[in-house]
Amino acid sequence: MFKWASLFNRDEFERDIESLNGRVKCRVCLENGKINYSVYRDNKIVIKPSNLGFLIFGEEPLGDKLKLVREHRKRHIETFEMLWGEDRFVKNNYIESAFYLTETREPYRIFTLRFRVFDSGVAFRYEIPPQPKFRQITLKDELTEFRLDLNTVAWKIPAYQPDRYEYDYERAIVYDLKSSVHTPLTMRTPSGVYLSLHEAALYDYGSMTLKLNANNALKSDITPLSDGSIAHVSLPFKTPWRLIMLADSAIELTTNRLMYALNDPPKNDFSWVKTLKFIGIWWAMYVGEWTWAPGERHGATTEHAKEYIDAAIRLGISGLLIEGWNEGWEGDWLENGVNNSFTVATPDFDFEAVARYAKQRKIEIVGHHETVGFVDNYERQLQSAYNYYAVNGVHYIKTGYAGSKMLINGRREYHHSQAGVKHYQKTVELAAKKHICLDIHEPIKGTGIERTWPNLLSREGARGQEYEGGALKPSHACYLPYTRLLSGGMDYTSGIFDIANSVKRISTTLARQIAYYVTIYSGMQMAADRPHIYEDRFPEVFKFIRDVPTSFDKTIPLMGEIGVYYVVARKDRDSNDWYIGGVTNEEGRHVHICLDFLFPDGAYEAKIYCDADNAHYRDNPFDINITTKKVGNKDYLDLYLAPGGGFAIRLRGPNN
Ligand code: NOJ
Ligand code: CA
Repeated sequence: MFKWASLFNRDEFERDIESLNGRVKCRVCLENGKINYSVYRDNKIVIKPSNLGFLIFGEEPLGDKLKLVREHRKRHIETFEMLWGEDRFVKNNYIESAFYLTETREPYRIFTLRFRVFDSGVAFRYEIPPQPKFRQITLKDELTEFRLDLNTVAWKIPAYQPDRYEYDYERAIVYDLKSSVHTPLTMRTPSGVYLSLHEAALYDYGSMTLKLNANNALKSDITPLSDGSIAHVSLPFKTPWRLIMLADSAIELTTNRLMYALNDPPKNDFSWVKTLKFIGIWWAMYVGEWTWAPGERHGATTEHAKEYIDAAIRLGISGLLIEGWNEGWEGDWLENGVNNSFTVATPDFDFEAVARYAKQRKIEIVGHHETVGFVDNYERQLQSAYNYYAVNGVHYIKTGYAGSKMLINGRREYHHSQAGVKHYQKTVELAAKKHICLDIHEPIKGTGIERTWPNLLSREGARGQEYEGGALKPSHACYLPYTRLLSGGMDYTSGIFDIANSVKRISTTLARQIAYYVTIYSGMQMAADRPHIYEDRFPEVFKFIRDVPTSFDKTIPLMGEIGVYYVVARKDRDSNDWYIGGVTNEEGRHVHICLDFLFPDGAYEAKIYCDADNAHYRDNPFDINITTKKVGNKDYLDLYLAPGGGFAIRLRGPNN
C-alpha cells in the first residue's frame, strides 16, 4: 500500500510509485532543481535515471531550477469495453502520481508531470497550464530521455525517410541508434526484460522518434515542422503520453493494451461503426492488368465496379474498394496529384449508378482519396469530398498520402509532424460527423486514438503487401506483431492467392496468406486479390477469409520470437468460434499447440488449413492440406509451417 503524499515546497525529493502487483516501480527524483525518473521491473532497473523537460523558443529551458509544490496520488481500477478490436475488455488499473512543479526563479513557470504506473508498464505526460506571459508557446525541443543499458537489443525502422514507416525491421543495439527511429521501438534488455517505447494520444504535436544523445540516452526527437520548431501550442496543453510497455516475453508484449487505456472513451455515439471485409479494384493495377488512370485498361469503370459488386455477393464479402475512379491519375500521378479532384469521376465511371447498384445489393462501397500528400488541395475539398460520398451512401473511405512529405500551408512538412498529425485528425473528426469510417494509408502511426474515435478502423503505416514482388521477406510479417502492431491494427492487404504471378511474385505460401487474417489484426480487412482468382482457383481456401471475423472478444498470443515466428488465437466477438493463425520466417518449423485456452468447454470442429510437408514459399507455395477434426480444451495440435509459410484454423464452437 502507498502512503498519501504530503510533500510541499520541496527542492529535493525521491518518490517511488509502485504498480498494484508491485512488479513495476517508477522512481521520480528532484535533485539540484532538476527532475528525473527511472523504471524498475522486479527490482531490476530497466530505465536508469533519465532527464525530463522542454526547450521553449525565447525562454530558458523548462526543467531546471524546479521545486515541488505538491504531489497528488490516486489509485484507479477500471475495465472498459472497446467497440471493436482484438480484445473486448481492457484493464486500466494504475497508481497515478501527479507532481506539480514550479521554477524557483523568474518567470516562475509551472507545469505538472503526471505518471501512471501499471503492472505492464509506465506512462507519463507533461501538462502545461495557462500562466502569465505564457499562453501561446512555440516548443523547440522536448528533453525526455529513456536511458537504457547500451547493449539492449532493439528492432527498429528509420525515421524521416521518404517512404515514411514502410521499411524492413532491423535488429540493432541501443548504442547503434545514432539516427532517429520510429516508435513503437521494441527492445530486450540484457537481463531479459522486453519493452517497447511508444506514445499514446498523439494530438496537436509532432510524433516522437528516438535517437541516442550525448548522454548515451535515447532522447525524444520530436518530428519538427519546416520552421524548425516541434509544435506551436496554446495553453493549457498536454503532451501525448510517453509510454513504456513492459513484459516478461516478446509474446506477452503483443497484447499490451496500455495505449488504449491512456486514451479517452468516445465522446459521441459510435454504435453505427461496423468493421468490414472488402475486395477491391486494386491488385489488378499492381499486376499490370488494369490502370488507375483512364484508358483502355482503366480499372474503375462502371462495368468493372458492377462486376466486382456481383463477385462480392458471391464471395460473401460485404465491401468493395474502388481506386482510380476520380480525376487526377493521368500521367505521373505522384507528380500531378496536386490537382486531384475528389468529387469529379472519370467519364467512364458513373459513380451515382454504381452507388445505387451497391446499395440495392447491400454492398458497402469503400471510397478512395489518394492525396499524394497534397494536403492543401485535399483540405480545400474536404467538406465537399466527404459530402459527395455521404450523400451517396458511402460509409468507408480509404485515404492515401503517397510522397515523401506533405504540402501543408504551402510548406513541405513531414507526415509525422504536428502539421501532419493535425491534418489526419481533421479527417477523422469530419468523417465521424458524416458517419464515415477511415482506413488511412501512409498514416500517422497509431497511438490508440481509435478508442476515442472508433470510426478510424484501420491504417497501413508499415510495409504491406504492395511491396511483394521483391521487397518483402518472409521474416517481415514475423516482426510486425512485436513492433508495428503494438500501435494498433494494420491494413496489410492480405489474401493474395495468385502467388506465382509473373509481375508480382509473392514470398509466402498460400496457407500463410489466410494466416494473416488472424496474425495481423485490422478493423477493415481486405481480400486483396482479384475475385476470379478466389472463385476459379481456390474456392475452398477462400472460405476461411469469408468466415474469419474482423472483431474479436479475446486475443491469446500463444508462442513466438521476434522476426522468427508468431502464433495467436482469437475468439470471435459474436460467437463461440475461435481462430488460430501462425506465420514463420524463411525457416520451416513444427509447433505443438495446447488448446487449454478454449472456452466455453465443449466439442469444437477444427478446420485446419496448413502447409503440406513439401510446401515452400520459393518453389512450392500452393501445397496446402485442408483437414477437419473434433477437438476440445484437453487436446493439442501438431502443425507444420513451411519456409515462408503459415497456417490458419477455424474452430467452430459449441452451440454455433
Ligand atoms: C499507396 C497505398 O498503400 C496503396 O494501397 C494505394 O493503392 C496506392 N498508394 C495508390 O493510392
Ligand atoms: Ca503504402
